[in-house]
Amino acid sequence: MTNILDRSRLESLLTQEEQVFHNGHPKSYELYQRARRSLHGGVPMLWMIRWAGSFPVFAKEASGAHFTDVDSNNYIDLCLGDTGAMTGHSTGATVKAIQDQIQKGITLMLPYEDVIWVGEELQRRFKLPYWQFALTATDANRFVLRMARMLTARPKIMVFNYCYHGSVDETLIVLDEEGTPMSRPNNLGPQIDPLLTTKVIEFNDIAALETALSARDVAAVLAEPVMTNIGIIHPDPGYHDALRELTLKYGTYLIIDETHTICTGSGGYTAAFDLQPDFLTIGKPLAGGVPAAVYGFTEEVSQQFTARLNVDDADVGGIGGTLAGNALSIAAMKATLQNVLTDEFYAKAIKLQEKFTEGVETVIKEFDLPWIVKRLGNRSEYWFRPTPPRNGGEAYAAIDHDLDRYMHLFALNRGILMTPFHNMALISPEITEADVDYHTKIFREAVGSLFG
Ligand SMILES: Cc1ncc(COP(=O)(O)O)c(C=O)c1O
Repeated sequence: MTNILDRSRLESLLTQEEQVFHNGHPKSYELYQRARRSLHGGVPMLWMIRWAGSFPVFAKEASGAHFTDVDSNNYIDLCLGDTGAMTGHSTGATVKAIQDQIQKGITLMLPYEDVIWVGEELQRRFKLPYWQFALTATDANRFVLRMARMLTARPKIMVFNYCYHGSVDETLIVLDEEGTPMSRPNNLGPQIDPLLTTKVIEFNDIAALETALSARDVAAVLAEPVMTNIGIIHPDPGYHDALRELTLKYGTYLIIDETHTICTGSGGYTAAFDLQPDFLTIGKPLAGGVPAAVYGFTEEVSQQFTARLNVDDADVGGIGGTLAGNALSIAAMKATLQNVLTDEFYAKAIKLQEKFTEGVETVIKEFDLPWIVKRLGNRSEYWFRPTPPRNGGEAYAAIDHDLDRYMHLFALNRGILMTPFHNMALISPEITEADVDYHTKIFREAVGSLFG
């Protein structure tokens, strides 16, 4: 037994798994061929070309933490729509609220009373007094960045190396190997070079943070409280205190993006660790998979914004979305917050995730692999390096696309769907202990095929 990866073995195993995938998905293949005649790349959305097979699996139906494809293969879903379905698919209370609301109007550009319940609930969970609605977390982030620039009259924003906050132009920037900022590789047709709009530093680097903010030209820092889009990178002890202190010291707003870190608990990482942001954004699972996102802010922001907004032009100022706050999203959000994303949800899902993580860890130890697994609430991720990365640059350096692809495809061929981008597994309470054990078994087999 060796823990050194044999590349030629990986390559031939990958070819074998591709063949298994092809043989097991004839109807998906047929649909994919048809889809290619009307959909660019045969998929409705660019990212769907990133699945591990040579064509996407076409889903037939999903319920809870499981789904079936058009070839009648059954899957355990550990991707859960990359957090959009973290609640589990088509959860009863959300479905009922959607069915009821559909009979009573879907979108009006007028509020229904339920929206107040949602605002009050967001206040309670995240401790910020004022809320607005959007349809995606990307939009929520775009809107708060505009607000921050408007209120501070500062031109720049700041993000962390290898963050992801949606397709927000200003955030598509990384550091190269020498630590020099550059437009993110494959940044598609940026309207403005992000070097002009954005400062980028490594997470957990307090000295770099102070240097970046001390020029007093940064309107806002946009941060996930724990980085989740390049593995899971926890903040060093005291890092969040420093982030808050330095942003206050230099008059920079702090935006916390909880879109993924809502996996921590019902009030996200912010409530669990008593963070004090000026703005908070979140989307994806809030309405159980129906498009919905929100952004909240402080009393001070609300007052300043009101004082400066010209009401006659409010609809064309760059913060918009005709369907934002539509009745269907609000009804789904209310039902999801009231009945699904509850403390009981988290207690159950986190316990299962702990079991899941233990399973992965046991295999890593058994084969003495230089890999780690990290957990945040009901989310975990394994990574091909022996120690936890402290920042995006370190995490990025350990990416192994072929190995990712093999691990994903091996799991997919045996009925387990991982998130396509890296090795993330999200656990909803409908996952059973047997599902978790099954994953451990399959993970062990995949590792055994490479290193046994
Ligand atoms: C932290 C974070 N914020 C925002 C987004 C954007 O979400 P959406 O694509 O739903 O707009 C993502 C997407 O992955 C994300 O990970």
